[in-house]
Amino acid sequence: MGQAPPFLRRRAERGREVVGKHWVTPWCGAAVATLLCLSWIEARTREVTTAPVTNPLEGRSDLVEDGRGLFNQYCGHCHGPNAIQGERPRDLRRLKLRYGQEAPNVYYEAVSHGRLDKGMPVWKGVLSDDVLWRIFTYLQTVQTPP
Ligand code: HEC
Repeated sequence: MGQAPPFLRRRAERGREVVGKHWVTPWCGAAVATLLCLSWIEARTREVTTAPVTNPLEGRSDLVEDGRGLFNQYCGHCHGPNAIQGERPRDLRRLKLRYGQEAPNVYYEAVSHGRLDKGMPVWKGVLSDDVLWRIFTYLQTVQTPP
């Protein structure tokens, strides 16, 4: 058996080079995956330990009328004037019924991040927290009884 012709040997060497460089990639992938996992776990833990979201304007009946105006200005064309809306997933009078104690949480989450896949816009950065909670204060007065 003689030596392989030089062009074949060169190709084999090149092959080894490529393999040599690429063994790093799976390790990088694993490291990134581990970091992502850790930050996910950290985020989950934080979620569990933070206090539940509550309406900072709870009980401010003096703000209800203002909240109603803001609601009709920003939300009414999708959620119905004065929150009267026949489509249940969009009926914000059903927040308490649907989510109970979690209602402020779900509300704040929905307005902060939107539900873009469903057509609900992001309001964080557009409206201040104060305005968002005024609207919620109004919504609390029109909840469907259980
Ligand atoms: C462009 C239309 C549109 C506008 C404007 C809009 N929303 Fe929505 N919103 C939606 C849709 C559609 C859904 C239903 C998403 C779904 O099916 O989960 C929704 C869902 C929500 C939910 C979750 C309801 C639930 O029962 O889970 C909240 C809370 C909410 N909107 C608050 C608001 C507030 C407050 C405003 C005004 C500042 C507003 N939205 C303006 C379209 C809109």
